[in-house]
Amino acid sequence: MAYTVIATLILLFSAVASTTATGLIGVNYGRIADNLPDPTKVVQLLQSNAIDRIKIFDTESTVLKALSGSKIAVTVCLPNEQLKSAAADQAFTDNWVQSNILPYYPSTIIDAIAVGNEVFVDPNNTTDFLVPAMKNVHASLVKIKININVSSPIALSALATSYPSSSGSFKSDLVEPVMKPMLSFLKETGSYLMVNVYPFFAYGANTDTISLDYALLRENTGVKDPKTGIVYKSLFEAQIDAVYAAMDALQFSDVKLVVSETGWPSKGDSDEIGAGEDNAAQYNGNLVRRVITGGGSPLRPNDPLVVYLFALFNENQKTGPTSERNYGLFYPNEQKVYNVPFSVEALADFPSAVSNGSKTEVATAPSPNGGDVSQTWCVANGKVGQKKLQEALDYACGEGGADCRPIQSGDTCYNPNNLVSHASYAFNSYYQKQARATGSCDFDGAAYVVTQPPRYGSCKFPTGY
Ligand SMILES: *[C@@H]1O[C@H](CO)[C@@H](O)[C@H](O)[C@H]1NC(C)=O
Ligand SMILES: *[C@@H]1O[C@H](CO)[C@@H](O)[C@H](O)[C@H]1NC(C)=O
Ligand SMILES: *[C@@H]1O[C@H](CO)[C@@H](O)[C@H](O)[C@H]1NC(C)=O
Ligand SMILES: *[C@@H]1O[C@H](CO)[C@@H](O)[C@H](O)[C@H]1NC(C)=O
Repeated sequence: MAYTVIATLILLFSAVASTTATGLIGVNYGRIADNLPDPTKVVQLLQSNAIDRIKIFDTESTVLKALSGSKIAVTVCLPNEQLKSAAADQAFTDNWVQSNILPYYPSTIIDAIAVGNEVFVDPNNTTDFLVPAMKNVHASLVKIKININVSSPIALSALATSYPSSSGSFKSDLVEPVMKPMLSFLKETGSYLMVNVYPFFAYGANTDTISLDYALLRENTGVKDPKTGIVYKSLFEAQIDAVYAAMDALQFSDVKLVVSETGWPSKGDSDEIGAGEDNAAQYNGNLVRRVITGGGSPLRPNDPLVVYLFALFNENQKTGPTSERNYGLFYPNEQKVYNVPFSVEALADFPSAVSNGSKTEVATAPSPNGGDVSQTWCVANGKVGQKKLQEALDYACGEGGADCRPIQSGDTCYNPNNLVSHASYAFNSYYQKQARATGSCDFDGAAYVVTQPPRYGSCKFPTGY
């Protein structure tokens, strides 16, 4: 027994020693909850778990003060609601930096500034403001001689294709207006792309083709990319490489990538396949092992993986399906939801990444299209205005034959009660009934396709009929 433990330790240490590039693990500290511990207690919790980098979704003063002198590096965020002002006027970002960065830096180690979050899927569509806002924030930092990386987390749904990884490409409508200027900015300033990656979504929508072992980074036969011959051992790595391939296609092979969010919920609704404590523990534990003992992804073997887990706490005030409130590694009372090893030492006690032999939850072996995030939904484009949306909604619910019962008063998807969410529900229903046929999510520009489940309150969008 003792021998095995020592042998395992030696193996782990030598794995670290022999790899030039070992990655870094951070954790997202979201605070959409009314029962979380005080930030000073949170800092102690982070320290006692050897977590030395975090990401927050704002520049909350109590958090940044509590981190002062802690040696914990933090990525802060300028929220989406401020993008328009930040893009319009450098006086705004000068002032923002003066009041949200300068008072804390450098005694609080501010590692990066995320300008906006998943901006392309912001229902208010702030896409046009993104790159100008990033440039203004950067210019404001340069002006006062502060060197902090500026970036912006994109959702994986920015990709048009992700399987096989080598054919990864950004959505064509994002390429010229935003991806190229953003990648140029990141390259010029020596910063990196932030990407939020959730194999949980792809697995849940494709259990017939994606095995749970592949999704949870357990031992498995892998999925071969027919073009490169690379055999992917995890959906996580396949998704990362799809983003790298998309960057390569635009000639930005020299820009690095950080996974700004990834996670697996410990609880979900009955239709959220794969959600559960055991799976969440394995996903996060196996991922940490992969990051701190392995090299980069197959397409960038020399770039260490930098991964921020989502999230530190379960957040009781998040809306949407049950999973949304159960991504936490800790309960608000600081008890662990499950054990995640954050250091090489702690990893020695973590069970190895093999399947526990459970047949019930393991889907069939990955088929050749395993790893595709082909599940898509249709949502309304608020930008076209009320009149056009209403016309399209009337069509979808009338002639179109969409199922619009759930958005009637008193029914499951009545709330949030606004035109965009009602239209989204109806457009998606139509789109799914048309078997997601090309052109069936357009409504003359009033609708567009997304690759992550839409989130409008607790309303659930069907994925097929
Ligand atoms: C969209 O913009 C409106 C008006 O500015 C604001 O009240 C709302 O909170 C925004 N929604 C999101 C999701 O940002
Ligand atoms: C910015 O990011 C790059 C790429 O990861 C890194 O090499 C550099 O050290 C970072 N700069 C700062 C100031 O943190
Ligand atoms: C094996 O794992 C599955 C899901 O990963 C879980 O449902 C099951 O309870 C586990 N079985 C044992 C014996 O641990
Ligand atoms: C957001 O606005 C941009 C520019 O106006 C447009 O190209 C894009 O299709 C819009 N996206 C969404 C999701 O509405």
